[in-house]
Amino acid sequence: MSIAPNARRQPSPARNLAQLWRSMRFMSPADVPLFLQSARTDKAISRLRTTVGERGAFEAVYVETGDPWASADSRYRYQAWKYERIVACLPAGQRFTHALDLGCGLGLLSHHLGKRADQVLGIDIAQAAVDRAAARFGSPAISFRQGDVLDLDPGLDGGFDLITLADTLYYLPPPIGDDLLKQVAARMARLLKPGGLCLLANHYFFSADPESRLSRRIHDAFAWSPLFTVASQARRPFYLVTILRRT
Ligand SMILES: C[S@@+](CC[C@H](N)C(=O)[O-])C[C@H]1O[C@@H](n2cnc3c(N)ncnc32)[C@H](O)[C@@H]1O
Repeated sequence: MSIAPNARRQPSPARNLAQLWRSMRFMSPADVPLFLQSARTDKAISRLRTTVGERGAFEAVYVETGDPWASADSRYRYQAWKYERIVACLPAGQRFTHALDLGCGLGLLSHHLGKRADQVLGIDIAQAAVDRAAARFGSPAISFRQGDVLDLDPGLDGGFDLITLADTLYYLPPPIGDDLLKQVAARMARLLKPGGLCLLANHYFFSADPESRLSRRIHDAFAWSPLFTVASQARRPFYLVTILRRT
């Protein structure tokens, strides 16, 4: 099976540097603590997984800090910029009827999706996240519920014309093998109406960085799926966005 040509391109060091330089406009030194907090949270999750289990680990970080990835922290303008840019990657002028934001966290992206979709449902493994998201952004058009990407209600199948997974899939239980990613891609396809879109956004720093390599593997697994075609792909500082269309 062939892969979309742009899904495999490895940026050269010169391109990486140029990308970093351009990104400076969107980041200030004041944003650096955001990345440090995210790294601390990721480390805590790895540790907690072994003691309180998968869901327990995410519940614990939300209960402990309220905003474990500083996604709602107005001190960091990078995050707000990132949500806006992710939504701007969707095809211009297209409106959606039912959008599903998986791994919605505190609901920031779900809120932004509300500008493009009539109904948005945000789902997160952590009830603590969902409660905070609902308190801040819940409305007749935007709702939230607890759920696991790996164990979604079959009643949701075929109900959406847009699914977003922003920085969610690299929190699947490790090790994240290609077989698991292919199963998840197939599961996402079942949630979509024919022609519906699946938007993946994942941290992407440099091609040599192990986390960025995992992001690339996640996007490739979807791009390779016979159930999807790649509609677009964009690398921005510091994330990768792939939009796939349900065949
Ligand atoms: C880095 S946060 C991203 C949150 C949100 N998408 C955003 O961009 O602000 C990752 C989120 O994925 C959720 N998550 C992790 N594993 C999950 C799973 N198996 N099912 C649903 N949500 C999951 C976590 O609880 C967390 O809220």
